[in-house]
Amino acid sequence: MSFLLLLCYHLLSAPFPISVEASTPSPLQLEADALQQSGWWVGRNISQHCQSKGSIICDASGSIIDIFVDWKLPAGSTLHNLNFSSLPNLVSLYIFNSTLQGSIPPQIALLSNLTFLHLSRNHLTGHIPLEIGNLTNLLELHLDDNMLTGRIPFEIGNSSKLSKLRLHRNLLTGTIPSEIGKLMDLMELRLDSNMLHGTIPSQMGNFTNLFWLSLSQNRLMGTIPSTLCRLPVLSVLDISGNRLSGVIPPEIGNITNLRTLSLGDNNLTDPFPLEIKSLYRLEQLYVQNNAFMGLIPSSVFQLTNLKELNLASNSFSGSIPSEITHSLQFLDASCNMLTGSIPFNLFDLISYHYWLQIDLSHNSFNGPIPSMSIGPRELHGVTMNLSYNKLTGSIPDFLIHFHHIDLSYNCLHGPLSNQFLHHFGVDVGLGNENLCGNHSQLRSCASHNHTVHKLLKILLPSLILFILFVVCFTLYCSRKSKNTTHVTEVDSHGNVFSIWNYDGKIAYQDIIDATEDFNIKYCIGTGGFGSVYRAMLPIGKVVALKKLHSSEAAKWVALNESFQNEIEMLKEIRHKNIVKLLGYCLHKRCMFLIYEYMESGSLFWVLSNDTEAEELKWNKRLNVINRVAQALSYLHHDCNMPIIHRDVTTNNILLDSNLDAFLPDFGVARFLDVESSNHTVVRGTYGYIAPELAYTRVVTEKCDVYCFGVVALETIMGKHPRELLNDIWSKSTPNVAIKEWLDMRLRSPLTQNGVAQRIVVALTLAFACIHPNPTARPTMQHVSIQLLVPRPGLEISFNEILVEQILRQEIYRVNIISE
Ligand SMILES: *[C@@H]1O[C@H](CO)[C@@H](O)[C@H](O)[C@H]1NC(C)=O
Ligand SMILES: *[C@@H]1O[C@H](CO)[C@@H](O)[C@H](O)[C@H]1NC(C)=O
Ligand SMILES: *[C@@H]1O[C@H](CO)[C@@H](O)[C@H](O)[C@H]1NC(C)=O
Ligand SMILES: *[C@@H]1O[C@H](CO)[C@@H](O)[C@H](O)[C@H]1NC(C)=O
Ligand SMILES: *[C@@H]1O[C@H](CO)[C@@H](O)[C@H](O)[C@H]1NC(C)=O
Ligand SMILES: *[C@@H]1O[C@H](CO)[C@@H](O)[C@H](O)[C@H]1NC(C)=O
Ligand SMILES: *[C@@H]1O[C@H](CO)[C@@H](O)[C@H](O)[C@H]1NC(C)=O
Ligand SMILES: *[C@@H]1O[C@H](CO)[C@@H](O)[C@H](O)[C@H]1NC(C)=O
Ligand SMILES: *[C@@H]1O[C@H](CO)[C@@H](O)[C@H](O)[C@H]1NC(C)=O
Ligand SMILES: *[C@@H]1O[C@H](CO)[C@@H](O)[C@H](O)[C@H]1NC(C)=O
Ligand SMILES: *[C@@H]1O[C@H](CO)[C@@H](O)[C@H](O)[C@H]1NC(C)=O
Ligand SMILES: *[C@@H]1O[C@H](CO)[C@@H](O)[C@H](O)[C@H]1NC(C)=O
Repeated sequence: MSFLLLLCYHLLSAPFPISVEASTPSPLQLEADALQQSGWWVGRNISQHCQSKGSIICDASGSIIDIFVDWKLPAGSTLHNLNFSSLPNLVSLYIFNSTLQGSIPPQIALLSNLTFLHLSRNHLTGHIPLEIGNLTNLLELHLDDNMLTGRIPFEIGNSSKLSKLRLHRNLLTGTIPSEIGKLMDLMELRLDSNMLHGTIPSQMGNFTNLFWLSLSQNRLMGTIPSTLCRLPVLSVLDISGNRLSGVIPPEIGNITNLRTLSLGDNNLTDPFPLEIKSLYRLEQLYVQNNAFMGLIPSSVFQLTNLKELNLASNSFSGSIPSEITHSLQFLDASCNMLTGSIPFNLFDLISYHYWLQIDLSHNSFNGPIPSMSIGPRELHGVTMNLSYNKLTGSIPDFLIHFHHIDLSYNCLHGPLSNQFLHHFGVDVGLGNENLCGNHSQLRSCASHNHTVHKLLKILLPSLILFILFVVCFTLYCSRKSKNTTHVTEVDSHGNVFSIWNYDGKIAYQDIIDATEDFNIKYCIGTGGFGSVYRAMLPIGKVVALKKLHSSEAAKWVALNESFQNEIEMLKEIRHKNIVKLLGYCLHKRCMFLIYEYMESGSLFWVLSNDTEAEELKWNKRLNVINRVAQALSYLHHDCNMPIIHRDVTTNNILLDSNLDAFLPDFGVARFLDVESSNHTVVRGTYGYIAPELAYTRVVTEKCDVYCFGVVALETIMGKHPRELLNDIWSKSTPNVAIKEWLDMRLRSPLTQNGVAQRIVVALTLAFACIHPNPTARPTMQHVSIQLLVPRPGLEISFNEILVEQILRQEIYRVNIISE
């Protein structure tokens, strides 16, 4: 019945008269024919393509605006199969990982409304057609991971609205056209892993919004144009793996937003600019395999946020300064001409990080290995390579706790204990003439050939002395700090406390003091995995702490090392709508994560407080929905490994002082799952758990999609849509007007400014997202794009729109509903 109504609606609202003459088929019929003739939907019922299951979206008049394919197309499928001249209104063409072959036809220019062209990860060959420049509405052009050849057409400069241009991982040749400088709105430009030659065009300095520029792994020559240093918001600059020469322009210090600077594998020469010290946000600096000489400016080691520094295979001389930023976790200075002793502060980094990797091999470092009295602590994340230097002295005992160490080819002396040999193998000490040990490849410690008794006689007193020392030291420390038991216990259990993006001076004790040992009065929210606390640190900065429930904490501890690797990966995740993780503490009894603090608290809190909820006007609410969709789309589709959030709730969405939304806690669940993947443990928060989890154990991205739907409804309704969740798709929906469901605390939305229209789109998507069948839910990428697709104005009064009409996507079509 409703299907017939729908059909009538479509026929009535079709802009062209329906012709019965077979000779002049209507535009809508031509669209249908184009789909059929493509052969892409073989085995899928598209006889009523606007409503059949599939991936086609139509506008209100029934004309196709969005084609979304993420399955493997029939063998031999090409873009030439699709008659573009029949699809004049197409806004988004998304064909991802579908083994699409052949070239991009010049007829693509017929799609004058095309805004999103995503053809990533296919087998496309041939040239990029110069007609791409006719697509003047294009915002995103993703042709990465194909086998495209030829040059980048200079006509691309005519697609002047482009904000994301991804052509990486193809076989493109030729030079980078200077016309690319006309794309003033570019935010992301990725041309890496091609065979481009020539120089970097100086016009690239014109991109005022560019935050990601990657030209790495090409054959670019010449110098780094100083105009690149004019990019005000650039965050990632990767031009490694080319043939660039000359110096790093001193203007580099102007790009103060830079977080990653990758210049490795080029032919850059000294001097190394002192201005690098202005890049206080820098987290990764890679300059390996270049021709740098002379001293490394000591300010490089003092950049407060620097985590990774790769200086390997240059000709740097001089020594490493004694002052080193506590944020450093990766240092490769191997194969240089560095001298002097290894600074104590470099070893002291093990007090700040669980995971630490240092390679100083093939230099001329001398002096002894710094000795530390660190007591029994977790050092299993530490790897050091000190081989091929001129280090002297004996081997300090604490090194035995490292994950790995290489001391070969130095001038060390004394015994190499059996324990050392057992842990690291004999290679650890080879090439040290005066090192002895119980191994055929080492000199035996003949002069120390004592019986076991004699050995004990000597070792026992020193052992007792050592224990006494440790006890005294611990007592001394305990007295110095107020909360004695806690600190001692933490230390003797080997807690891990890691903090980054910080000056390193914040300590575990600061956190305990600031929250009075997690006193309930600092608690600002509770979620499926733990509670969130607000902590004002001694230096005046406020952070948010997520303290995991003790059962969760125990699992993290059990995972330990694999967890450490994962958290390193999480730290790399950058998205403007994802709250930055600042650090964490891992301990049997207490496990917490440290996040940026968001002034306005959780979305749940704002919605449940009448004054705050009134501040969160319709526009802001729609922005919240948009931003959460983008953040989830990023986690699901743009990370190296898709990340399922698993706890998307209004409690877990935080708002800053502008009421802009941020998503924290991404991926927490993923670690937990490594261990419990075979268990039926329903995680997440009650009221947000996808129904299929009641009968399957498989958690997919579609569970997040469901949660997103609930969150979007809750944001619009102002309260949890509890009673609606079970009924809406199963029973016949009551004929209520949608306005009955809106948050009454806000004035009803206006049609003139497009807010009413955006609410209808958001609600339509939200309903699709809470579909009980996970396969009928859209992907987050789809949702995030659909929220942005421009739509015609409402044709009926907002107040008259019924819930059922939105459910059946009769106002705006956003996704195909399954039966
Ligand atoms: C295809 O779907 C339409 C409705 O969308 C239905 O009427 C038709 O019977 C279906 N055809 C097949 C072969 O399933
Ligand atoms: C594509 O469609 C147009 C009408 O929109 C038609 O004239 C043309 O012949 C079609 N092309 C092919 C190759 O089928
Ligand atoms: C496509 O563009 C034309 C003008 O080129 C415009 O009239 C039409 O409304 C657009 N269609 C959509 C769906 O935006
Ligand atoms: C691409 O598709 C193949 C199967 O066709 C699948 O195994 C693979 O995971 C997909 N890759 C991505 C990135 O989705
Ligand atoms: C592309 O644009 C140019 C100039 O505006 C025009 O001459 C040409 O016909 C267009 N090509 C197509 C295929 O529309
Ligand atoms: C690009 O735009 C310029 C003017 O804006 C125009 O003269 C030229 O024909 C266009 N080129 C293409 C290929 O559309
Ligand atoms: C782009 O940069 C070049 C030089 O780098 C400059 O001459 C030109 O005016 C800039 N173009 C725009 C549109 O700003
Ligand atoms: C850029 O850096 C140079 C040299 O470091 C400096 O003289 C100049 O003022 C800076 N320009 C801007 C816009 O900051
Ligand atoms: C690097 O530059 C030097 C001169 O600065 C040159 O002699 C050398 O051949 C270059 N190496 C490469 C690999 O281009
Ligand atoms: C340490 O560095 C040397 C030389 O760079 C290398 O040969 C050796 O394999 C490294 N050791 C480890 C354990 O990686
Ligand atoms: C030396 O090593 C052998 C086996 O590798 C072992 O049996 C022996 O007990 C060791 N001797 C000493 C003194 O540790
Ligand atoms: C060590 O001393 C014992 C006797 O105390 C002797 O039997 C043994 O051969 C000696 N080992 C070596 C390697 O000199």
